[in-house]
Amino acid sequence: MTILAIESSCDDTAASIVSDGRVESSIVSSQLGHAAYGGVVPEIASRAHQRMIVPVVQSALQEAGRSLTDVDAVGVTYGPGLAGSLLVGLTFAKGLAVALDLPLVGINHLEGHLYSVYADGVNPERPSLSLIVSGGHTELVRMEPDQSLTVLGKTRDDAAGEALDKFAKLLGLGFPGGPIVDQLAESGDPAFHRYPRARLDAYDFSFSGIKTSVLYHLNQFDDEERSQFIADHKHDLCASFLAAVIDMLMHQLEKALDESDYKSVCLVGGVSANRQLRARISDLCILRDTDLYIPDASYRTDNAAMIGVAAFHKLKAGATAPLTLTIDPSARLK
Ligand code: KG4
Ligand code: ZN
Repeated sequence: MTILAIESSCDDTAASIVSDGRVESSIVSSQLGHAAYGGVVPEIASRAHQRMIVPVVQSALQEAGRSLTDVDAVGVTYGPGLAGSLLVGLTFAKGLAVALDLPLVGINHLEGHLYSVYADGVNPERPSLSLIVSGGHTELVRMEPDQSLTVLGKTRDDAAGEALDKFAKLLGLGFPGGPIVDQLAESGDPAFHRYPRARLDAYDFSFSGIKTSVLYHLNQFDDEERSQFIADHKHDLCASFLAAVIDMLMHQLEKALDESDYKSVCLVGGVSANRQLRARISDLCILRDTDLYIPDASYRTDNAAMIGVAAFHKLKAGATAPLTLTIDPSARLK
């Protein structure tokens, strides 16, 4: 079973060949033009997808040593994401499915992230607990042995990566902020300033209060003093902010682990690159004698290999999509 997978939900155009669940190629064309605007510009993103979709699919086939006649099914992200971006990938995938008379498999982007660890060729023992942390999402999800999913909690406002990006923008540190904060925090004092940790019922998250708290903290200075304060203390400010974000993530993760007998933990999405977060979760899993899975760097951020692997598992269960499938920019995990 050879699947051609396509992912275009945000600002990366990606295609992959996945054969019997094994990744044969994974091509990602990242759009760099958004950094100048401090965030992803939807109009620029959809136009770039239109330019790149054909060459990216061709590269994925070429790298796998395959041609379109080898493909047995087309897997594609239908949401959540930017409408104009999703439309390019889904329309292209449907065109291929019609032209080649192949089954179409619609994949929720978050389901793709859940399967990103499987793209490494591993099969975490279930029930497993996954923390999805990216620029657009923060969710805690339980996967059963039969691979059915339950969303335990999610962010009520900003995603963890979004909070880091907004924080970095506020301090004028650059975009995307996550890797910059990760770097600067390394030599900073996390106790320099105590930002509030939102503690919500159930397993939900909230990162908007902490952003407001940074604003209050910085607004006590006039413009000139503020620039000097940031220049003098950016390492400490990053360490303090990151500590608060990680504490909030860890609190809900630990609570979930306390309340059920999970066989494994998966940390997925772009923020899983964060060294302190990885270290904290790794320590926790060692303490609890639970296996921890974090995807390889190439499957951490948006890619089509994770969509292909998710499509493989869906196809095995017989779940194909009708050709009337439409994008769903605010799709939820079922
Ligand atoms: O998964 P991803 O590419 O995008 C979404 O699907 O949303 O994740 C991008 C996010 C950005 O918010 C970025 O700042 C964050 O991941 N990120 C990091 C690190 N590397 C990327 N956050 C913290 N530490 C990092 N090292
Ligand atoms: Zn993503």
